[in-house]
Amino acid sequence: MQALISPSLMCADLLHLEEDLLALKEAGAAFFHFDVMDGAFVPNFCLGPDLLAAARKAACLPADLHLMIESPERHLQLFSIQPGDVVSIHAESTRHLQKALGFVRAAGGRPALALNPATPLSILDEVAGEIELLLLMTVNPGFAGQKMVPGALGKIRRAREKLDAMGFFDLPIEVDGNVSLENATLMRAAGASVFVAGTSSVFRAGRSIQEGMLALQRAIEP
Ligand code: DX5
Ligand code: ZN
Repeated sequence: MQALISPSLMCADLLHLEEDLLALKEAGAAFFHFDVMDGAFVPNFCLGPDLLAAARKAACLPADLHLMIESPERHLQLFSIQPGDVVSIHAESTRHLQKALGFVRAAGGRPALALNPATPLSILDEVAGEIELLLLMTVNPGFAGQKMVPGALGKIRRAREKLDAMGFFDLPIEVDGNVSLENATLMRAAGASVFVAGTSSVFRAGRSIQEGMLALQRAIEP
């Protein structure tokens, strides 16, 4: 499966967002990863619908919307989902997971399931047929700059095996959290194909966006 990079806007320089988005697109980003946090599902706040609208105008790339909010089905209409957008709904965030995924599909987006590190893969038995991507958190969500949780690589491997065994050979696995150059190579070998690039790679101090994107591309497509 083709390897894709989804740079995380929460790690970009918000004072130079337009420039950064153009540089990311030029350097081959497939999406822009857009983290929404509500201070309840995760102990932090970040990004929201107004900035999303501005980023869409500047980027001309599909959004990779990662909703870390309670009961996302109540707020989905705020995000003006566009065709081609990936919209990740956390299994832990809603009592109405299928409803939320269905709303994304009805709006023309690509519904995706996000799982925290401690959430079992067994939920795929219920919803794998309703999603177009599986987002595995490789840190506990909320903050950039954390270390990959132990067991993350094994979980990626088990998820790939499970999806293949269910016949979902083309369903991509995205990884989010501490996707460093070293970890990205291991994540790729374990079965991930979409990589959220944050402070561990593309937005690392001392590295330009172009250098970071090139280094990450080499790490995932040796
Ligand atoms: C939270 C975010 C972070 C971050 C990733 O969901 O998506 O995980 O941007 O960047 P790192 O972990 O490299 O700082
Ligand atoms: Zn994210």
